[in-house]
Amino acid sequence: MKGVILAGGTGTRLFPSTKVVNKHLLPVYDRPMIYYPIETLTKSGITDILIVSSRENMAQFMELLGSGSEVGASITYRVQEGASGIAQALSLAEYFVAGDKFALILGDNIFTENFSDEVRSFESGARVFLKEVSDPRRFGVAEISGKKVISLEEKPIRPKSSYAVTGLYFYDSHAFEFLKKLTPSERGELEITDLNICYMDSGLLSACFLKGAWADAGTHDSILEASIMLRNTAKPEALKADNIGIGIPEVTVGILAYQTPSYNCEKYLTACFDSLIRQDYANVRIIVLDNGSEDVTFLEQFKSRYPEITFLKSEKNLGFGGGHNYIIRQSDSPFYTALNFDMLFEPDFISKLMSGILSAHDLGSVTGKLKRWDFSLFEKAKKENNQHETGKTNFIDSVGLRIRTSHRFEDRGQGEVDYGQYNEREEIFGASGAAALYRRVALDNVAFVNDKGEKEYFDELFFMYKEDIDLAYRLQWAGWRSRYIPDAIAYHDRTVSQKGSGLWNIVKNRSHKSRHVNEWSFVNQEIILRKHFLDQNFSSQVKAATRWYNFKSFVYILLFEPHLLRQYRRLSDMSDQIEKRVVRMPRQTSIARIESLMED
Ligand code: DAU
Repeated sequence: MKGVILAGGTGTRLFPSTKVVNKHLLPVYDRPMIYYPIETLTKSGITDILIVSSRENMAQFMELLGSGSEVGASITYRVQEGASGIAQALSLAEYFVAGDKFALILGDNIFTENFSDEVRSFESGARVFLKEVSDPRRFGVAEISGKKVISLEEKPIRPKSSYAVTGLYFYDSHAFEFLKKLTPSERGELEITDLNICYMDSGLLSACFLKGAWADAGTHDSILEASIMLRNTAKPEALKADNIGIGIPEVTVGILAYQTPSYNCEKYLTACFDSLIRQDYANVRIIVLDNGSEDVTFLEQFKSRYPEITFLKSEKNLGFGGGHNYIIRQSDSPFYTALNFDMLFEPDFISKLMSGILSAHDLGSVTGKLKRWDFSLFEKAKKENNQHETGKTNFIDSVGLRIRTSHRFEDRGQGEVDYGQYNEREEIFGASGAAALYRRVALDNVAFVNDKGEKEYFDELFFMYKEDIDLAYRLQWAGWRSRYIPDAIAYHDRTVSQKGSGLWNIVKNRSHKSRHVNEWSFVNQEIILRKHFLDQNFSSQVKAATRWYNFKSFVYILLFEPHLLRQYRRLSDMSDQIEKRVVRMPRQTSIARIESLMED
């Protein structure tokens, strides 16, 4: 397969920077822009590359790249006179391609993933690579049904979907026959989208979704964002405290503290706070909220010991969601981390999560590898002055939330021994509320404005239990993805939930739930279904699986926990509130995309 890079055009959106310098020679992070598309091709096994650019700039490209030997490629050059469109520039590649298949990449498109598998599997026709974006009007836009592209439009005013066609395309040599038939668009250019439409109309177009980050570095802002993205993904150490530089966004860490005679949060706090203040991320703000504890003074001793932490107090217990919402409203950081107090964090936990979430603009949340923390072992070792025993185990607590076709939700990996089976970054349904990092714009995007005019990021109807699942679902509907970052490691003690009726059972072991928690769990599963499983367009497989699971749960309740039936009354009292939330919930994503996240 051959490669074609287009590096012509006039670069008017970047004037005056491009008055005398070609756009693709401007620096993006640590090298000229053109290096990125070259690297995308060579990393994917394509080394025979044609660069098309304008007459004025060609000499500079040749001076920079020469034969291509320094960048592991063999480079041919071709001049495009004028700038009559991407498709016109591509038509100049006919003799170079000489009947072979080829990958076309626009010189201002930056990708972070490796396309070797796609290159190997591509046989004929054309393939486009899609990415869900928040501003589709800037791009070619694909409407899809299942896995098929059913319409394509160049920079539509009213986009039919949020799937941008990125600047990487695979074609067979029929492209040149189609190109000859194209006519200029209204703006006087031969459009690449029109070539793709020819393939689509002939039933020869396939599409796949990008997994990694992508930037179209065509504007000043996108060049800056791409630079920060590349710096932070290439060099996660740039985010660390001893390397303070520009573009290190603030993260607010929110922790809810709650102390009653039967619920001992206090015993965890020293270890938890110590591991937080040792975080190597350069810009962290830690806020601890006393969420209506009976013992009103229990945090006093920590205030003097941890001057770097801000302590807030709520007179009443606001629940999990209410408590975090309270902190989020006090914070203006662009990122928020909800963390549990019964946890121990590796020093690079936050910097690893941040480098993960900064790697793609459409990530709304990330989570790391949470393992079990044997707190009693840790306490015992502390009493014996044994510094070496930390209670860290090799059992997995959660590697993100999973959604099943039946609308059953689980913590992935829970209880498994960690033998490296979750060592790859991967897309997940959502992050467990025990340790989730959220992008604030994503939270604002899906927040529900309640009758008091306050934003509810976590839905306060839930009070406790499963609100992280509801938030994960809302973020997905709004087009915000979630990613698991395996090298962000923390330890979580789940034993506290076995001791009874505390609020914090919300995030604790589900198999030891109290009656009170069971009631909330039941009600909240119902709220989730009423908010999210209301669309008749779910596939028959998902509908059947969900109804069957619901039916089984109902029979179980009838037989073993009939007291839960009383909760239907509570649900009926909430129906207006649920309805308001449903109506105001942003939905930018297709059901097909939601279903693609579901496992059987
Ligand atoms: O980035 C993806 C988008 O790229 C796609 O979604 C659009 O469908 C596609 O039209 C294109 O839109 P842009 O507005 O970003 O195109 P731009 O004018 O920036 O050109 C993209 C690259 O192609 C750029 O690196 C320069 C090169 N080019 C462009 C023209 C018009 C040429 O080499 N010759 C040309 O005549």
